[in-house]
Amino acid sequence: PGQLTLTIVVAGASGDLAKKKTYPALCFLYQHGFLCSNVRIVGYARTDLSDQALRDKLRPFLKNTPEDKREAFLATCSYVSGPYDTPHGWQRLAAVLDKRESATPKNPAGRLFYLALPPSVYPQVCRGLKEHCSSIATSSEPGRSWVRVVVEKPFGKDLQSSEDLAEHLGELYPEEQLYRIDHYLGKEMTQNMFVMRFANTFLSPLWSRTHVANVQITFKEDFGTQGRGGYFDEFGIIRDVIQNHLIQLLAFVGMEKPVSLHPDDIRDQKVQVLRCIKPPSLDNVVLGQYTAADGEDGYLDDPTVPQGSRTPTFASIVLYIDNDRWAGVPFIIKAGKALDERKAEIRIQLHETPHFIFAGESSSSRNELVVRLQPDEAIYMKFIVKKPGLDTEPVISELDLDYHSRYPDVIIPDAYPKLILDAIRGDQQHFVRRDELRAAWAIFTPLLHAVDAGEVPIHPYPYSSRGPEEADALRSRVGWVKNSKYDWKAKVDV
Ligand code: BG6
Repeated sequence: PGQLTLTIVVAGASGDLAKKKTYPALCFLYQHGFLCSNVRIVGYARTDLSDQALRDKLRPFLKNTPEDKREAFLATCSYVSGPYDTPHGWQRLAAVLDKRESATPKNPAGRLFYLALPPSVYPQVCRGLKEHCSSIATSSEPGRSWVRVVVEKPFGKDLQSSEDLAEHLGELYPEEQLYRIDHYLGKEMTQNMFVMRFANTFLSPLWSRTHVANVQITFKEDFGTQGRGGYFDEFGIIRDVIQNHLIQLLAFVGMEKPVSLHPDDIRDQKVQVLRCIKPPSLDNVVLGQYTAADGEDGYLDDPTVPQGSRTPTFASIVLYIDNDRWAGVPFIIKAGKALDERKAEIRIQLHETPHFIFAGESSSSRNELVVRLQPDEAIYMKFIVKKPGLDTEPVISELDLDYHSRYPDVIIPDAYPKLILDAIRGDQQHFVRRDELRAAWAIFTPLLHAVDAGEVPIHPYPYSSRGPEEADALRSRVGWVKNSKYDWKAKVDV
């Protein structure tokens, strides 16, 4: 069979997302030999630019690539300018695609449309692409040619607006051609959660309400909105990271084993568990907004944030999965900007050992399995052993899989290259299906409407703090217990 004639179209090529994420991810794939040598990357946007001017704009963002590889990559990049809402530009783009594919008429063709654009223009852009750029004329094996569209959040602002957008896109492209990115699905440890859960016998009996006391999913950033306040203020922390990234992590913790690795079997199980989650009650929610401290501006000091905004930059939300496996187990989600550290992790706390016969500080300690996504990927289990020495004193230690020490020579790729490669390979496993998105919005929409209506208090917390104290009180109330005298340190830090 002939080699694939692959063309990647980056719509919104002159914008920030394209420069910072899309092109560097493509360059990474090219540099490491994951894109066929005949690939072409065509940028499309409204700005009038020559091919050369686009390459000059991109170059500073590709600094991590050796010069020869970078220039070879840039040579594959060209540019077409045109509007999003009228046919002319799309027709010019179609001519470029047709000409290229007709030069290799026996080969199948693949067109990957990557929308590095705000969702407000998705409908018109997808219409242009569908009407003018989606029929592949030349191929000896039409069955092997394909057109795929990659889109990224925000997918609406609540259940209804997300459904409206999904409806628009769905009229143009069927689900098999739509690849909705949630970049947390491309993270190494998210994918590992799935493997770890379903490949280890010793974990399966532990994985339920019988042994699990609570699950915490934490996302902390040690910086504020950094000039992105204008965007952020429209969404807030729940829409920005919880409804998508963190709920995906929760789905991997909570889901049942899929029948097979087929992307739809996996996503069926994720949808199933999400549908078991009711919207949180307001007494299980703590929201916050950061204030100025230690010379750092508060959220409201960001000039791009509207005065007096009540948008939350922090949220702690307790969810329950109403099924046999998880009934009554609190899933405590905590996410915030401008906190004391940068960290994303999943922490599964088991019940206490009944009738603990040893003395000492560890008597009330609970085993915890921690999957750390970032920084410094790791999986560790807090467990109690005999303190080395003459006495029989129990002490908390760990079973530790620190990725940097265990796999010192492996470069863990970023999420974007992984996901783009999946899209090129036609693997939808790590992309969000429409019903999954709907189930996730259904959980948070009543809360979001209450927040928008000003019905939920917003607690101030100082920049670089742990967030509002009310969040600690909430997690203790639902049953989380702090282990005494123990702090895991990544090996790279010591
Ligand atoms: C994005 C959010 O989706 O994820 C940002 O819009 C957030 O606000 C980012 O900072 C976090 O991603 P990562 O990969 O740095 O954890």
